[in-house]
Amino acid sequence: MKKIIVTGCNGQLGRAVNKLYEGNREYELVNTDVAELDITNVDAVLKLAREVKPYAILNCAAYTNVDKCETDIDACTRINAIGPRNLAIASTEVGAKLIHISTDYVFEGVHDTPYTEFDPTGPVSMYGKTKLAGEHFVKDFAKNYFIIRTAWLYGDGKNFVRTMLNLAKDHDTISVVRDQVGSPTSAAELANAIAYLLPTDNYGLFHGTCEGSCAWSDFATEIFRLAKTGTKVNAITTEEYNSPAKRPAYSILENYMLKLTGGYTFADWHDAIRTYMEEEGF
Ligand SMILES: NC(=O)c1ccc[n+]([C@@H]2O[C@H](COP(=O)([O-])OP(=O)(O)OC[C@H]3O[C@@H](n4cnc5c(N)ncnc54)[C@H](OP(=O)(O)O)[C@@H]3O)[C@@H](O)[C@H]2O)c1
Repeated sequence: MKKIIVTGCNGQLGRAVNKLYEGNREYELVNTDVAELDITNVDAVLKLAREVKPYAILNCAAYTNVDKCETDIDACTRINAIGPRNLAIASTEVGAKLIHISTDYVFEGVHDTPYTEFDPTGPVSMYGKTKLAGEHFVKDFAKNYFIIRTAWLYGDGKNFVRTMLNLAKDHDTISVVRDQVGSPTSAAELANAIAYLLPTDNYGLFHGTCEGSCAWSDFATEIFRLAKTGTKVNAITTEEYNSPAKRPAYSILENYMLKLTGGYTFADWHDAIRTYMEEEGF
């Protein structure tokens, strides 16, 4: 069995990956979250990598609270930048592939066509800056790596879909931002793409988001339509919403590298959210 060390296994992506690999006869997941392996501790990372001698390390761990990153800067930098550096160092030492996940928030968001992997970055938040630093560390220290930038992720955990459905329990109308566009992506779809890339030597930087795009307000409208809650969406501006962290207004990613190197396609976001809500029983 080929071993894969999974970090942050209790997060949305970690859970989706576990669901996908359940009963798999070729790969064995060595699951860790912060209690078993704190990715910010280079010695602990190296020790586990030397013990397990994995085929791959899959980094599902991150500091994902975008607003809290603005003030909790040291922790966010440790987890989003130093953590991937440590995993990159360890992966190179033990000859393992590294799969690292990044974000659409590495971009500034002033664009009128979908961002490809070849477009310049320009993060506008601490989350985006630290995730970009993580990418650079992976490029600097890992030999065989896949960096996959995803966006607007939802799965088993705290996410926009669950927040909307919880709010709908006691609100008839919910205000949602209309001037930020992106591509909602299910953790299950991202896990499928990881499983596609993992056995290959198709290394490098990839965008990995569901096909199609929308504003957060459109996404909320679709969630309420599918859940038949009858909730109305009051589409507001980012300025009206007023959150601590700045977010890119436009962060639609094109999965250009996947298209150029084999033609792997993600599901359309409408199909992915329908599947997710059916499976979750929402
Ligand atoms: N969520 C999104 O909308 C989104 C969008 C774009 C990209 N991404 C990226 O996609 C990836 C997966 O995100 P996700 O939504 O699955 O994240 P998530 O649900 O927040 O899970 C992250 C996991 O990492 C754990 N963790 C935190 N610090 C750690 C440490 N020092 N060592 C080990 N584990 C640690 C967390 O534990 P605690 O819960 O105890 O902190 C949590 O279990 C991340 O790289 C994220 O940046 C996410």
